[in-house]
Amino acid sequence: MAKKAAKKKAPSKKSAKRTAPARNAPTIVRAVGAVSTEELTQELDAIIHQKARDRTKHPFVQAVLAGKATNNQIAGWLHQFALWADPSNKLFGVMWARCPDDDLRQGILENMLEEEYGEFSKTAGHMRLIDKTLVELGWSKKKQEADEIKPESCLQKHWIEVVIRNRPIVESLAATSFTAERMNPFVFALLEKGLRKHYRLTEDGLRSVSVHASHVEEEHGSLGPIAMRRYATTKQAQDGVRFAVTHTADVYYNQYNVWNYY
Ligand SMILES: [Fe+2]
Repeated sequence: MAKKAAKKKAPSKKSAKRTAPARNAPTIVRAVGAVSTEELTQELDAIIHQKARDRTKHPFVQAVLAGKATNNQIAGWLHQFALWADPSNKLFGVMWARCPDDDLRQGILENMLEEEYGEFSKTAGHMRLIDKTLVELGWSKKKQEADEIKPESCLQKHWIEVVIRNRPIVESLAATSFTAERMNPFVFALLEKGLRKHYRLTEDGLRSVSVHASHVEEEHGSLGPIAMRRYATTKQAQDGVRFAVTHTADVYYNQYNVWNYY
């Protein structure tokens, strides 16, 4: 099923449809002092790829790639991922309700359907996939229940809630889609590579990782620039997006440090 993310694929019909203006999309007029969407996304990409913000270079990812992380550390990291991601995925329903454009709302809904049911990857809800991986790594249900959320995961969970509930939709999408999900295929492709090479997991056990390394996840990352083109048209709005992207990259990278607890 899931193919490595590094391979660039032609845009799917769904994302191609989203590049055309939505029926109810706003007319775009850029204010003085604002940069073009292309300049903005290039600037943001450079921020995301800075050292200590780029999750592909995080010591945990590199340790899995080299076979140096223990099963317990991988399970701990994955369980903490579930503890912040599960409530955050449910908040996509809030983002859906707050989003004014048909095409962007469709993308958000597709993302929820994939997270909840594995609708597009034809797998299962992502939390169920994570359960299987955890059990294969030696973490029983009882052990999972005994593992409390760590401060780094709380911070990530809290920030996602703030950016979805309290910030303009363009900042919500810049944080969740552009910064978090767009990078996931690259991060999870490295994890999948390391897990296949050095750890004994079945295909079922690997699926929670391989599904995030797939084109399904790439699809989730396509909404940010569309929203920025429509709504980040003043310097003030662009500065809001700059903060949302930078802070998301910071707290997400920091969340990966949880592997040190295990
Ligand atoms: Fe997921």
